[in-house]
Amino acid sequence: MPEEASFEDKYDKIVDLAKRRGFFWPSYEIYGGVAGFYDLGPLGTMLKINIVNLWREYFVLRHQDLVTEVETPVIVPEVLLKASGHLDHFTDPIIECLSCGRKYRADHLIEEATGLKVEGRSIEELNEIVKNKGLKCPQCGGELSEVRTFNLLFKTTIGPYSSDAGYLRPEAAQGMFVSFKRVFVSMREKLPLGIAQIGRVARNEISPRQGMIRLREFTIMEIEFFHDPEGEDPPWDRFSGKLRLLPAELRQKGEENPIEIDVIEAVREGIIKNKWLGYWMCVAREFVKELGVGYGEMYFEEKMPYERAHYSAQTFDQLVRISRWGWIEVSGHAYRTDYDLRRHMEFSGQDMTIFKPFKEPKIVEVEKVVVDKSTLGRLLGHHLTSFLEALKNVSIEEIKKAVTSSEETVVIAGVRVPRTAISIVKETEKVAGTRIIPHVAEPSFGAERLVLLVLDKAYTEEEGRIVLKIPRKIAPVKVAVFPLLEREELVRVARRIYAELMSLGLTVIYDESGSIGRRYARADEIGVPYAITVDFQTLSDDTVTIRERDTRKQIRVSIKNVYSELSRMLHQPESSAL
Ligand code: GLY
Repeated sequence: MPEEASFEDKYDKIVDLAKRRGFFWPSYEIYGGVAGFYDLGPLGTMLKINIVNLWREYFVLRHQDLVTEVETPVIVPEVLLKASGHLDHFTDPIIECLSCGRKYRADHLIEEATGLKVEGRSIEELNEIVKNKGLKCPQCGGELSEVRTFNLLFKTTIGPYSSDAGYLRPEAAQGMFVSFKRVFVSMREKLPLGIAQIGRVARNEISPRQGMIRLREFTIMEIEFFHDPEGEDPPWDRFSGKLRLLPAELRQKGEENPIEIDVIEAVREGIIKNKWLGYWMCVAREFVKELGVGYGEMYFEEKMPYERAHYSAQTFDQLVRISRWGWIEVSGHAYRTDYDLRRHMEFSGQDMTIFKPFKEPKIVEVEKVVVDKSTLGRLLGHHLTSFLEALKNVSIEEIKKAVTSSEETVVIAGVRVPRTAISIVKETEKVAGTRIIPHVAEPSFGAERLVLLVLDKAYTEEEGRIVLKIPRKIAPVKVAVFPLLEREELVRVARRIYAELMSLGLTVIYDESGSIGRRYARADEIGVPYAITVDFQTLSDDTVTIRERDTRKQIRVSIKNVYSELSRMLHQPESSAL
């Protein structure tokens, strides 16, 4: 049995390994570093690419009949974030030490000092707690300021010497909302329609202290899934089954353990308020399992109303337990309703509705405005045309109010006209459909914290050596090639195999220095699933050994079959492929 690294220091060991072997490290180190920014090194970058591609496989490619991917700018104009609500609501509570000037996230400071969970509580409530508990600066013991709200948007300007404010986007979502109509038309005007985006976002976190978990700039992977809540069911035959859920109602009662429930039942019972939200949670469950997390090691926690983002009617966070930081959020699942499209309609004046055909055309009673053109023509002369145009923009309710008044003349569209010259009649009409604003379910992941998650789950120590058991599919380097000894005849063959595997698109390392045992250990430490060794037998029968990282088992295969054997093994589900 592999020995688990002891819990207390596992995180430190991972961070040490990450720096030493090139997974990640704090950015700008030579200038002392800046909190909340991390570099990905060569292996970290490759691992992240594989995680992103796995996400793309699950969320986009396996749903390409429903989901399409786009790319929109990182810098957004102010009006967009005014409309989205981020300018007013994308805030965290801040508190300052009046003595040393350090700034803290007030809810985190309270939680650390008292153990109380106060995320999402009002500024007044937080101030009350700070006062009642007599909290002081955790660094210098100084007096603390009042709690205030701090907006997390990074601000810039657009254009030279410009006063046009721009912001780094805090989520990729808004780019998808504002381009929804274009994508909808280009995708043949069908709902449901998922728009996916993978890209950088930035949030000016108050005092990020959780390494790769809370970054000020990171890669988000999200889908805005536009649908009619009364429309078709998700393809449950692709993803469904049981979810471990901790509903807000149970949290309210102090329950800390999730329940297990079939997703379709959870939707039917209203525990999950939107069927597509539940569907994408099932996809998220399978995706995170592939990163090396057991089903029992994750659950979905419903956020309390006061913990939810301003746009969400229901949110579940997918939580996974890792060393040092405990349960961390690896994805958020928000039912954004029609909130965003409705707001962008209001602010842009553009129509974001789509036509929803009825199953059968309906005969409906409609109210129509009838104008006595001859009377009005005599009165208004050549102004009649502009009056009729302006009348189109007046709501039927307003016209109804005017024409049912007791006045002889009324003002409509800014013009005084005889009340009887305009009337409203009821007619029946055959209507083929109606216009609706689509609703949105959103699964959203941060890529960098998944890099840390994968390392945490993969990290093991065996006989005093580190073995990173990264799932084969996402391992940054798939194969190592070694000559048994640094002898010219062995090196020549090993280098030929190395070049051949590179040209076939595999990620490969070649290592000829040190004992073969040390080279296996170096490869295990960065999670290389397979190592090929060229030995003296190779010279007589053209065979090599392939060693498997997790079992240390070896097989001999002929050089001409090395690539096909490796491909077969790399595509096997986890567990030994030999
Ligand atoms: N779009 C999801 C988020 O901002 O977290």
